[in-house]
Amino acid sequence: MQTTHKVLYQSASSMKKLKSGSVDLVVTSPPYPMIEMWDDVFKNMNPAIGNALAKEDGDAAFELMHQFLDKVWNEMVRVLRTGGFACINIGDATRTVHDHFKLYPNHSRIQSACYKKGLTPLPAVIWRKQTNAPNKFMGSGVLPAGAYVTLEHEYVLIFRKGGKREFITARDRAFRQQSALFWEERNQWFSDVWMDLKGARQMLTDKNVRKRSGAFPFELAWRLINMYCVKEDMVLDPFLGTGTTMLAAMAAGRNSTGIEIDANFKEIISAQADEIVDFANEYIRERLRRHEAFVMDRLEAGKPLKHVNAHYDFPVIMNQEKNLKFNPLTRVKNTDPGVWTVAYSETAEWESTLENAVGIEPATATAADRKNRKGKHQNATTEHMPANTKPDHHPISKPDNQPDQQPDEQPESKTEKYQQLELKL
Ligand SMILES: C[S@@+](CC[C@H](N)C(=O)[O-])C[C@H]1O[C@@H](n2cnc3c(N)ncnc32)[C@H](O)[C@@H]1O
Repeated sequence: MQTTHKVLYQSASSMKKLKSGSVDLVVTSPPYPMIEMWDDVFKNMNPAIGNALAKEDGDAAFELMHQFLDKVWNEMVRVLRTGGFACINIGDATRTVHDHFKLYPNHSRIQSACYKKGLTPLPAVIWRKQTNAPNKFMGSGVLPAGAYVTLEHEYVLIFRKGGKREFITARDRAFRQQSALFWEERNQWFSDVWMDLKGARQMLTDKNVRKRSGAFPFELAWRLINMYCVKEDMVLDPFLGTGTTMLAAMAAGRNSTGIEIDANFKEIISAQADEIVDFANEYIRERLRRHEAFVMDRLEAGKPLKHVNAHYDFPVIMNQEKNLKFNPLTRVKNTDPGVWTVAYSETAEWESTLENAVGIEPATATAADRKNRKGKHQNATTEHMPANTKPDHHPISKPDNQPDQQPDEQPESKTEKYQQLELKL
């Protein structure tokens, strides 16, 4: 398998180089209107924005900034395929203009713009961020009627173009199966509040650079790509910045196109792409380790898993997880300026820690032995997962997806190894 990744250094207000219907998923975060760090970017797009800010007309500036973003959303809708998704990370802004403090509701302005352009809005994610910002207690302190709620969340708005995507060819269906999520991930990732987006490892980029550039965490792009498209699909980020979406697409075996107006990001994008093989493979291994820790916890709780994954030979909850497979990265190559190809292995290389667990544990294992062994999974245990991701948690059913969410209760023959493991536990 091989994927290709291209960065175009230009404005996203026109995407002439991209064919209509050629993109399966958009993952992006625009410059945020009325957040001061992006004022100059907007002023360069339209001098009228500078005039509005100079006249301290916040409402006019807000609307003009969004009118610029509307051009990008128009193009986004054109290049998206029918059945494709758009995930837009955006935060609202609070600002005092002309001595008047108020909220500029970016998320609802973008939500309604995309709705008017014909996209289907879907339930959004609230990304809860913990900040120690100095303005945490804004307004009148502890005195009533003049203090303001602290903004500590952003949104990931989610849209679909048209109806459900169909997977018609055998190849499409096979890629979809291989791109499945683990059941326990599905419960966590499809929750409407993301409390902690720290992944197994932070991106290589310096933390300050990421902050200055408004970069989102690798885990945010990684999740969305895994949730809303399949292997070898095309992912677009029209506001690429440091290249997080492209790196997550590389790691997930998707193709990507990034658009970025500021050529100063070239160096950082290249440096990170050069390092993606090791970074992505460790990220994949971490995901497998977390699954095995989940399996151990579930077995210890006396809850059997009914199916076995064909590539890793470990237990899984649902029949749909049987063909789930990651392709480890083998090589990244910078073929042309701003173009990379990534090659992948077809072999799902993985040394299971569960096999060791089966091997080392005598049938007479005590509770202390088990506790000891569990310590081996310390970094990946479900104890650190949010409550709604623990195996006991059954999410509220929704009519559209009810059958997907419940563990598959169909009996199925298991490998001898896991039957033994279950007996021992
Ligand atoms: C919020 S940042 C995106 C950060 C990115 N998600 C990351 O993880 O690094 C918005 C980016 O949009 C870029 N930008 C601003 N106006 C643009 C335009 N008209 N076309 C393309 N990119 C633009 C900015 O330079 C900035 O890098």
